[in-house]
Amino acid sequence: MTTSDHEQRVIDENVVPRLQIGGEWRDASSGASFGVEDPATGRVLCRVSDATEEDALAALDAASRAQAAWADHPPRERGEILRRAWQLLIERRDDLALLMTLEMGKPLAESRTEITYGAEFLRWFSEEAVRIDGRWSREPGGSGRLLTMKHPVGPCLLITPWNFPLAMGTRKIGPAIAAGCTMVLKPAQLTPLSMLALARVLEEVGLPAGVLNVIPSTSASRTAGAVMADPRLRKVSFTGSTPVGRTLMAQASQNLLRMSMELGGNAPFVVFEDADLDRAIEGAVIAKMRNIGESCVAANRFLVAEAVAEEFAAGLAAKMGSLRMGRGTEPEADVGPLIDEDQRSKVTELVEDAVGRGGKVLAGGGRREGAGYFFEPTVIGAVPDDSKILSEEVFGPVAPVTAFGTEDEGVARANGTEYGLVAYVFTRDLERALRVVEGLEVGMIGLNRGLVSNPAAPFGGVKQSGFGREGGREGIEEYLSTKYVAVDTGE
Ligand code: SIN
Repeated sequence: MTTSDHEQRVIDENVVPRLQIGGEWRDASSGASFGVEDPATGRVLCRVSDATEEDALAALDAASRAQAAWADHPPRERGEILRRAWQLLIERRDDLALLMTLEMGKPLAESRTEITYGAEFLRWFSEEAVRIDGRWSREPGGSGRLLTMKHPVGPCLLITPWNFPLAMGTRKIGPAIAAGCTMVLKPAQLTPLSMLALARVLEEVGLPAGVLNVIPSTSASRTAGAVMADPRLRKVSFTGSTPVGRTLMAQASQNLLRMSMELGGNAPFVVFEDADLDRAIEGAVIAKMRNIGESCVAANRFLVAEAVAEEFAAGLAAKMGSLRMGRGTEPEADVGPLIDEDQRSKVTELVEDAVGRGGKVLAGGGRREGAGYFFEPTVIGAVPDDSKILSEEVFGPVAPVTAFGTEDEGVARANGTEYGLVAYVFTRDLERALRVVEGLEVGMIGLNRGLVSNPAAPFGGVKQSGFGREGGREGIEEYLSTKYVAVDTGE
């Protein structure tokens, strides 16, 4: 299958495949570029300039030069830029969704949902820009006053992943713009097109030159590494894997950078015997199959009370088995390809390990041969506890189901992981629900629902899933620092 004329036109109209530095679109200083592939066909969609260390530092120069004026920019105007960008993304939703499907693979309907989700972060933070405030309070001893005020943190490095090519950027860019921070953004090598399209939108709605600088690159170490070593940088916000997060933290320690880390997950999906099973199965399909399972909030382990485990697994297998695979641009496709062969090999290995240890394949089970990196929606029942799939992040359309006995055992097994991003709980018993949500060691919980992501809510984890929150009232705090003034009132 080739890229159609319409697809090519959408790419050409929305993307300048170069670096955006200081308000200019430039080629990489080395002249090098890299190909962006359609994971459904393996074909190169377009070539994008490949930033070098020199380019990354030029981007930081631009961000540093723009910082003081941007911090001074009236909050209302910063908010209005965000609001106009939200509007333009919604107007262009169909084209931008196609662009996203082409580079990432998810079905068009899901890409449209991500454009809306991603745009909503801009609208949310357009409303937060004018609500940055401080405090004036009386010193407890009565002899003076305490004044606190908020300032933008300063130039930030934003590193975004390939799985949500737009939304993972807007939930960093939105609060940074609202707070008055300038940015160097390194999009994922596999999916830079959506971020380049967003940079154009922000340029069109009047974001001043140098506030957002975008540097696609095949090398994070030479670009992000160079920027982090420079003392002008103040903060790093990263969404990606826990091992990469650890490396970045070690690098960031040199300049004591502020950090926000949205890292890996191993989400338990816990179903109690009193749950509404139809609702639980519906929630399970959403929690597992959103984004083809390539999400850090994807349900990774299905822990089901013994009394209903078989019925739940059979119901889930029937639903998952009915999903149709296809290139995301095909209207009947429910499930697109995985992002690349590495990801597909990892998923294959986890399935083979679980089945080798005695797990039973109830739906799917393997890769689809031919073009693209397709893997069947898969359910494995009676998965043994020592299977790797229960301890590693799957990042694919595979649901391992395992049974538990008591409520305490269910909670203990849900917590039995180094990760703590999200958990899903299904029960109709209110007292149990409250006990269980209090006992879970995670940053977010879906109670009787399979989706937690919402621009108005604080997204983030605990333990090895990272720290910091994106979205909600908390999101802007990551881009602000507090200054306190002790005032002598002569009392
Ligand atoms: C992620 O997978 O990193 C985030 C998903 C989301 O925002 O829902």
